[in-house]
Amino acid sequence: MRLVLVGPPGAGKGTQAAFIAQARSIPKISTGDIFRANVREGTELGVQAKAFMDSGDLVPDEITIGMVRNRLAEDDAVKGFLLDGFPRNVPQAEVLGGMLDAMGTRLDVVLELVVDDDEVVRRLSGRRTCRNCGHIWHLDFDPSRVEGICDRCSGELFQRDDDRPETVRHRLEVYAEQTSPLVAYYAAKGVLIGIDATGPVDNVTDRALDALRHYG
Ligand code: AP5
Ligand code: ZN
Repeated sequence: MRLVLVGPPGAGKGTQAAFIAQARSIPKISTGDIFRANVREGTELGVQAKAFMDSGDLVPDEITIGMVRNRLAEDDAVKGFLLDGFPRNVPQAEVLGGMLDAMGTRLDVVLELVVDDDEVVRRLSGRRTCRNCGHIWHLDFDPSRVEGICDRCSGELFQRDDDRPETVRHRLEVYAEQTSPLVAYYAAKGVLIGIDATGPVDNVTDRALDALRHYG
């Protein structure tokens, strides 16, 4: 299955991507995660991306597209993949379509996670990520037994730099202006499915897997 997840910052894309990728045995390709790993390791790509990420702006297309092109060429992506955070605007979607054409394939489905802005702000302000295993937690919804420590691996939890309230507001504007047009773009191609992404994480996963049950 070749799947794209779309939705505003904090919709739960990263959370659901992990469950869906595991359930469907496909690699999860998250451009945000790849950028953050490069920032952590201090690579040239990370240095180029950091200022854009910290301000909540999109990293320029020429940087992002090259990175995705390389990742999709890896062996594990040949039979299918889940893209989380890419494409992020219509030009990226058009390039992705061209890449898949050249590979003789196409997207099966674009799954939109639908949540409103108030919920997004609540989710992002409480988000904490494990430095060790990458698991995504929430301070209120997953009250950890020991504060600041991952329940899965005892790793240290941290707050993302771009989850500051003023940056969150800007990311929502960027989503509305640049990313949300993808919903109509993929609806016109007949591949869009929207699901209600509110309520407990498990319920959203059930809705997502149910919506995807007819696809490869
Ligand atoms: P990216 O990492 O893609 O961030 P994003 O799209 O803003 O999405 P988030 O990771 O913030 O949210 P999410 O939807 O994954 O939510 P999560 O599951 O964590 O991008 C970051 C930056 O990288 C961009 O700003 C840009 O600079 C750059 N970038 C990345 N891709 C790019 C591209 N293609 N082009 C250009 N630039 C790019 O959940 C959020 C919180 O809610 C968590 O705490 C979680 O525990 C909680 N939660 C999740 N589901 C539920 C639920 N059902 N109920 C209660 N809480 C929940
Ligand atoms: Zn952990």
